[in-house]
This record gives sequence, C-alpha cells and structure tokens, in this order.
Amino acid sequence: MSETHQITHEAERAFLVGAQLRGTKPILTLSESLQELAMLADTAGMVVVGETTQMLHKVDSATFIGSGKVQEVIEAVEALEAQAVIFDDELSPRHQRELSKKLGDDIKLLDRSALILDIFAQHASTREGALQVELAQYEYRLPRLTRQWTHLARQAGGLGGSGGVGVRGPGETQLEVDKREIGRKITKLKEEIEKVRQHRRRHRQQRQKTGIPVVALVGYTNAGKSTLINALSNSDIYVADQLFATLDPTTRRIVLPSSREVLISDTVGFIQKLPTTLIAAFRATLEEIVEADLILHIVDVSHPSVLSHIETVEDTLAEIDVIDVPRILVWNKMDNWDDAPLPQIKDSDEYIAQVYVSAKERTGFDNLLQSIADVLVKRFERTKLLVPYDRGDVVSLLFQSARVLEQEHTNDGIIMDVELPVSLYERYRNYEYVEKSDVQAD
Ligand code: GTP
Repeated sequence: MSETHQITHEAERAFLVGAQLRGTKPILTLSESLQELAMLADTAGMVVVGETTQMLHKVDSATFIGSGKVQEVIEAVEALEAQAVIFDDELSPRHQRELSKKLGDDIKLLDRSALILDIFAQHASTREGALQVELAQYEYRLPRLTRQWTHLARQAGGLGGSGGVGVRGPGETQLEVDKREIGRKITKLKEEIEKVRQHRRRHRQQRQKTGIPVVALVGYTNAGKSTLINALSNSDIYVADQLFATLDPTTRRIVLPSSREVLISDTVGFIQKLPTTLIAAFRATLEEIVEADLILHIVDVSHPSVLSHIETVEDTLAEIDVIDVPRILVWNKMDNWDDAPLPQIKDSDEYIAQVYVSAKERTGFDNLLQSIADVLVKRFERTKLLVPYDRGDVVSLLFQSARVLEQEHTNDGIIMDVELPVSLYERYRNYEYVEKSDVQAD
C-alpha cells in the first residue's frame, strides 16, 4: 500500500520515447510532438526526467523501436530512476507485451492514448463524461489485458476502479474471467451511453423548437475556449493552463448586439493522435458540434504549432462527420502577439470569417459578435404570417420555434411578425401575409 501512496504524493518520474517513420510527414514534428507529450505527462501529474527519439525504417513488429534503442531506454530508465516509460505513439497489444517484458514489472509502460485516457478520467466531472471515458478505457484495455495487468489492477482496487472480480468458471483462467467481465461492462456502458444520447437528442430537439441558435466552440486543447465563453457570458467555467481542463459540454446563453439570443457551448478540446476509442466513445458529446448552427474554431495565435493545431482540429471534425456547419476561425491570445505578420492558413475559404480576439483582455469581441450575427441572420427569415383564430396550435408552435417580434389582432386573425429558421419557412408558407402597401412599395 505504501507504494501506491508514494505514487500519489510524489510525482511519478517518466521517460518519453518518440519515433517517426522515415519518409512520412506527420502533422507535428517529432520534437513538437514530444513537447506536447511532456505537457500531457505534466497534466497527468508526472515529472519528465528524460526522452529519446528514433527515426525508423519500419516499425519493429515486436518492440516498436529497434532493439538497440530498447536497450538504450532500459539503461536511461535505470540511470534516471524513472518509474514510467511513455511512448508517443499508440502501441499495439503485442508491442505492449514485448516491451513490458523487457522493461520489467516495476516499470509502468504507457502510450499517448493511455495517458490521454487517464487525463480524461481525472477530469470527467459529469456522469456523461465519466461513462464515455470509462467505455474508452475498457475498449483500449480489453485487447491489451495481460495476466500481470489484471493482477496489479485487482491489487490497486479493482478493474478500472470499479472492482470487477468475476467468478471463474470450470477450466477458465483468471484472464479469461477478466476479459469476460470487461466485455460485459462494455455492453452495459454502451447501453447507458445510448440512453444519454437519446436524452441529449430530445433536449436538442426541444432547444431547436425554441429557435435559439446554437454556436459550438471547438479548438485544440488549451486554445482558450473556456476563457472565451466565460468572457462572453460572464460565467465561471473552470479555466486552467492545463490540457483538457474542460471535458463536458457547457452551454451558456449570450445576447448579440442585435438582441438575438444564442446558446454557446464549449466542448472537449482536441489534440493530435486522439485515441480512436475516445472519439468513438465521445459521440454523444460530439454530436452537439455536428448539430450546431455555427462553429467557432478557436486557435492560440501565439502557439508555434498553431497551423498544425488547426489542421488537427479540422481532421477531427471531418472524422465526426461535421461537414456543412459554417465556421468562423477565431484567432485568440492576440495580447501575446506583437506586430509580426499573422500566420496564414491554406484553406481560408473554408471559413466564413476570421476574427482576432483576446479572451483574456476581452478585445475584438465586437467584431466576433458581429460575425456571429452575420452568419446567423442568413439562417433566419423575417416574415409576416396571418394565423386564423381557430389555429391556436400554430400560434403556440410559432412561439416555440420562431422569434415573435410583434403581433396584431385583426378581424381575420393574428398578424404575427416573426423571424423563422430558414428550415421551417416552408412549413408556414400557407399563412404568409402580404400587405398591399408592401407589394406596391417593392
Ligand atoms: P481545454 O480545456 O484544454 O480544451 O482548454 P481551453 O481551450 O478551454 O483553454 P482555457 O480557456 O482553459 O485556457 C487555457 C490557458 O490559456 C489558460 O491559462 C488561459 O488563461 C490562457 N488564455 C486563454 N485566453 C487567453 C488570451 O486571450 N490571452 C492569453 N495570454 N492567455 C489566454
């Protein structure tokens, strides 16, 4: 037990290993990627004591890096008294097994995916977040289960912290029991997440009926999304100079200068090499982005890898099938930028607008809000409808799905001056009210 206490009180000493295949051109350079891995380790509460990199002709089928490099890592780990080795790339179950054998039982072997999953698990604060991370962790672990792992996990308080000790059937090994147990948990988690998803869907439908547009913030981790949403809405979402401080979607209401209300929602930050199990597990949360009326893509202008970050976020959006939601690129942290020329992106026409703000200093907000209003205005149609008195149902539907600006009771019915989402315009076309004087004026 004393060992577990030591790990929680004293930062675990980690050694990082990065590799790149010759002839490939990853989004981040090897050194940028390792720097990011070091930040992830730091966020997970570890201290980085050393690192090594290798350019590979091919990935070694047993140990990922070459055998000479493995030896070098073993020696460095011993000399630096490291307790954990973290690979920057996802290791296959076989890599994990072979490397663990070589490093020995006392050294914890992790890869970037496992680290990100750990951080997510630490930061999940709502039930939805926790369920999704737990699913991703089990999916990641299932193919990697070893006898040694399950044994250790049980000592440390159960499988994934939920104490799943299954009953061994005749002829079954403990490993088989554990695998079966995890498989059962995965099925159960999927069912629960499906319920959350249904609930979210109903909630969204409800929200769509109110006609209030939804703006989703997306961005690379630490770009400043939470700071921006706080500044825009004067709320107090947790802001920290940490990766993945926010995990669960947070929605706030803000009012644009035109006095239109919008809902603005902050979602999980992205990062390169986000574990695929995580993206799959976070569908329920990510659907908020897919269904938004507008996306604000927030970037940290002062980060040296900002262009790679933009590319990573765009790739992840494509992966979750965000296709035709309009986007505004928001260059944040302008207070950190001097007079140097601003970074130029390749696909600038993918964005309806680019704006420059400092969420911290609250500058550039007028432009940002105006750009949001300009996009949203195109998604609404202002019109006048004449609704007969016996169609109270239509009147109440309009109050739910449109913005009613004015209403006038006449002999023929109620004339309603409304702003309708373009998608609903057709539905009410029959009630369109045309004033004679208007026709002449046109
Ligand atoms: P994740 O939770 O990882 O997705 O991060 P996030 O995008 O929500 O970033 P967050 O708002 O937590 O900000 C990350 C760090 O950047 C914090 O230390 C903020 O204080 C800082 N920050 C945010 N906006 C600005 C800005 O305009 N200028 C400066 N200088 N720092 C900023």
